[in-house]
Amino acid sequence: MRTAIFPGSFDPFTIGHADIIQRALSLFDNIIIGIGTNSLKQSIFPEDKRLQHIQKAYSNEPRVSVEIYTGLTVDFAKQHNAQFILRGIRCVADFEYERNMAEANKQLAGLETVILYTRPEYAHISSTLVRDLYQHGQDITPYIV
Ligand code: PNS
Repeated sequence: MRTAIFPGSFDPFTIGHADIIQRALSLFDNIIIGIGTNSLKQSIFPEDKRLQHIQKAYSNEPRVSVEIYTGLTVDFAKQHNAQFILRGIRCVADFEYERNMAEANKQLAGLETVILYTRPEYAHISSTLVRDLYQHGQDITPYIV
């Protein structure tokens, strides 16, 4: 059984995230979405709302589940016997950050990170951008699932 965790802040979960999950379902038997804490970011959507939003999006997909976790991503992965961490990369600006995280998680627990490239049509969409639009009263429904 190939299990991957897909960790992130998901503040909010976007169509870009959903696209990564959809494509990764051909690589893994199960994907566990982990809503974790990024110490560098200030969230605006409450954790329980993020959980409900993602749960609703995958209510008909038994191979995808979602949980909130605290602490290290590698510990969350170990709790679920996940062998892989799944992440998406949109652009070159994401690369350094992802490389460092992947290396740290490899050293901490021997976990491999599998990176998928965001589809070009979604490459400009980030949770940060969506939060900003939301805070300025814009309709964010085109960006979220
Ligand atoms: O969506 P994000 O904000 O890029 O996700 C970052 C996240 C939550 C995956 C990362 O900050 C994380 O793994 N946090 C949990 C604590 C941890 O394991 N830190 C070490 C990462 S190398």
